[in-house]
Amino acid sequence: MATTFAKAAEGTVAEQTHAARIEHVSKSFSGPAGTQLVLDDVSLDVAPGEFVTILGASGCGKSTLLNLVAGLDRPTQGSIETPSGRPALMFQEHALFPWLTAGKNIELALRLRGVAKAERRTEAERLLELVRLGGAYGKRVHELSGGMRQRVALARALAQDSQLLLMDEPFAALDAITRDVLHGELTRIWEETNLSVLFVTHNVREAVRLAQRVVLLSSRPGRVAKEWTVGIEQPRRIEDADVAELSLEITEHLRGEIRRHGQH
Ligand SMILES: Nc1ncnc2c1ncn2[C@@H]1O[C@H](COP(=O)(O)OP(=O)(O)OP(=O)(O)O)[C@@H](O)[C@H]1O
Ligand SMILES: [Mg+2]
Repeated sequence: MATTFAKAAEGTVAEQTHAARIEHVSKSFSGPAGTQLVLDDVSLDVAPGEFVTILGASGCGKSTLLNLVAGLDRPTQGSIETPSGRPALMFQEHALFPWLTAGKNIELALRLRGVAKAERRTEAERLLELVRLGGAYGKRVHELSGGMRQRVALARALAQDSQLLLMDEPFAALDAITRDVLHGELTRIWEETNLSVLFVTHNVREAVRLAQRVVLLSSRPGRVAKEWTVGIEQPRRIEDADVAELSLEITEHLRGEIRRHGQH
């Protein structure tokens, strides 16, 4: 059964034209104050192997959109397809289980994926090496720094072996230097694994540092306001002049969105 499924899945991967397709998606939430439209007619494709960042002001619906792509919630209107199956998800907070070691946190994801017990330890150690945490297998979460915890969280997300990785401000709580190092690591891993990444942030420089394409969402309700293709070669650095220049242009648009929202 498992083999048949794997073969069928491989067949679809070969034919895929997109890793995610978001078509005319709207999302409203109903509460005591009435119905609030959070996302309005959002359409967006992520190509296989593409790195896209979604940028927007606080409250514009970025996390809502990511949760919809992750299948944690359903759109009010429109449709979302992720042909390669359920995406992996990584949040701002590491969400590791504190009573498990780094290695066991990863092995849990491997177990849920159906990896045989005998292979889990080797695979967990390989993933820890990939995020440059070889040797941390037996460490408990409280023994790890914030940056190391996010590396374990990334390894755990990679353990799901999804073609699509969804990241919701995963480095926002880290200091600038640690964040810079992790940007480099994420770029390297993305290049090595050929994953598709949909990365949410409100940090313009981070968006330009990482992505092949930056999609700006408007302020409430979130719509696709504008998008930029980032032609700057990797490896980039957040302080590079061409990263700064494009960030300035995008920041102007973001400010415009925030001003427009403020007038409502
Ligand atoms: N489950 C929910 N029920 C009701 N309202 C919600 C729910 N989830 C999100 N919202 C509302 O939707 C809007 C967008 O929230 P969302 O978390 O998607 O914003 P965001 O762009 O991720 O913001 P931030 O940058 O601060 O993380 C907010 O006004 C929020 O209150
Ligand atoms: Mg959010």
